[in-house]
Amino acid sequence: PRIAVVFGGRSNEHAVSCSTAGSVLKAIDTERYDVVPVGITHEGRWVLESSDPERLAITSADKLPEVDASRATVALANAERSSELVVHEPASVPRTLGEVDVVFPLLHGPWGEDGTIQGLLEMAGVRYVGAGVLASAVGMDKHYMKIVFQAQGLPVLPYTVITAREWEQDRPACHESVDAIGYPVFVKPCRGGSSIGISKVHDASELDAAVAEARRHDPKVLVEVAAEGGREIECGVIQGFGTNPPDTSVVAEISIGGDHEFYDFAAKYLPEEHTRLDVPADIPEAISDQVREISARAFEALSCEGLARVDFFLLPDERLVINEINTMPGFTPSSMFPRMWAASGLDYPALVDRLVQLALH
Ligand code: DAL
Ligand code: MG
Repeated sequence: PRIAVVFGGRSNEHAVSCSTAGSVLKAIDTERYDVVPVGITHEGRWVLESSDPERLAITSADKLPEVDASRATVALANAERSSELVVHEPASVPRTLGEVDVVFPLLHGPWGEDGTIQGLLEMAGVRYVGAGVLASAVGMDKHYMKIVFQAQGLPVLPYTVITAREWEQDRPACHESVDAIGYPVFVKPCRGGSSIGISKVHDASELDAAVAEARRHDPKVLVEVAAEGGREIECGVIQGFGTNPPDTSVVAEISIGGDHEFYDFAAKYLPEEHTRLDVPADIPEAISDQVREISARAFEALSCEGLARVDFFLLPDERLVINEINTMPGFTPSSMFPRMWAASGLDYPALVDRLVQLALH
């Protein structure tokens, strides 16, 4: 089969997506699959990329990887529901890349993980790896994600949402709604990822600056109670074949070292940071069983397909709360998702193969 691996994209997680793609391109079994690497530039142009994983890695904060905008443009043809990738200029590359059996949208954040590319692929009649339009859209928006989880009786932290209108027209009411849930809080762009635009706020005097920062990324802002003393726990979920229930991975824990107040962008991706990943987590079996059970329920609550990673806090009183679900979790060298599956007996190439097979069935 032919797989188009699509990465980069218009969101601020562009570099993370490049790094994710580098890892997947390295792991993909090229004896079995014919791979077409397709990059989406920051501006949204689709180009025929190289599959050199080294070029796509994150090595330092100052020089993040990005899709090379000087490459030949690729268009997804949808005539008669064919799924041909057509190449425009330069003449040195073939005009069409032919049929693609499946697209692996390795995109994080808006315009990729949020249902938009999934909608495009549905319209074009192309199979793709991962969640569909609705699950992607709900999983991207922390506000609606919480509404769905709460409606299914899944545990989440107390929160409040500040819309653009509320912030601009009645700021005292916004402050009151945050006072009501109680400081300290985390302020987050509703539709974002990789901790970009997130700040911890200790008291009301810091709120305006944090909301302004989050609003640089999304006019809608989520404010949520900080899980003080909570441990960061994660679990991978993969759809079962046919009507089988989803599979869950071993449960893992993240411990943030150095002077990071939370699992921020640097702690997540920069190689020199002192983040410790314990796979499996050193927690009682009864708790990891509960994590796995809630993860599978969260996956089904959003009607996810393919894969997801569910992130939790284990509170000091041993209660579990879901922080969020990611419908296209990172696959970078420092990412939890592939590690948790490797520890569960599915190594990286087998994981990629399973995801592609799920999309083809
Ligand atoms: N949003 C990043 C890629 C993650 O969840 O892993
Ligand atoms: Mg996320």
